[in-house]
Amino acid sequence: MSETPSSNDPGQAGFCRVNTVARLEVPAGESLLEWLRDTADCVDVRKGCDTGHCGACAVLVDGVPVKSCSVLAQEAGARDVHTLAGLSLLDQPATQAVLAAAEQRQPFQCGYCMPAFMLAAIALLQDTPDPTDAQIRDAFAGLLCRCTGYLPIVDMIGLAARLLRGASPGGDGRTA
Ligand code: FES
Ligand code: FES
Repeated sequence: MSETPSSNDPGQAGFCRVNTVARLEVPAGESLLEWLRDTADCVDVRKGCDTGHCGACAVLVDGVPVKSCSVLAQEAGARDVHTLAGLSLLDQPATQAVLAAAEQRQPFQCGYCMPAFMLAAIALLQDTPDPTDAQIRDAFAGLLCRCTGYLPIVDMIGLAARLLRGASPGGDGRTA
C-alpha cells in the first residue's frame, strides 16, 4: 500500500480523471481523500484514521493502491483515480473475479474496510493472477480490519484468483 502515487513522477497539478467519467480540477492544499468525498462525490472512499495508519481510504491511482488521506489531491493531477463504487473497473476480469469471490465467501463483517481490501485485491490480481498467500498478505500490508482476523479475506482472494484463472466457482477455491 503506497502513500504516494509514484515516487519518481509527481504528476501534474490541474485535472485528474475519477472513475473515467470526468476530468476534474484538483485544488491545492486539500487531501485526495477530502477532495474525493467532498467535491467528487466519491463517498464510497472511507475516512478512518485520517493519519495514514488504517488504509480504509485507499483508492487506485493509475492502478496502484494509495492511501488517499496521505496524498494531496494535487498529486493526482493528470492521473486516473478509481474508487470501488465507480463502475469504471467493472469490465475488468480481476474485478469480476473479486466481486464473485466476495459474494460467495462473504468475508467482511462491518464492511468499513471492504473497499480498500477489494481495490487492493483487484490491483494484485491484475498484475499477479496466481498469487501466493505471502503475496496476498503483502498486498494487504497497511490495511487494517478490526473484525475478521484477515483469514476470510485472504481466503476470498485465493478464490478470486482461481476464478480469474478459470476454475469453477463451485470448487474449493481455498488458498494453499
Ligand atoms: S483514513 Fe487514510 S489511512 Fe486511515
Ligand atoms: S470488516 Fe469491519 S473493519 Fe473489516
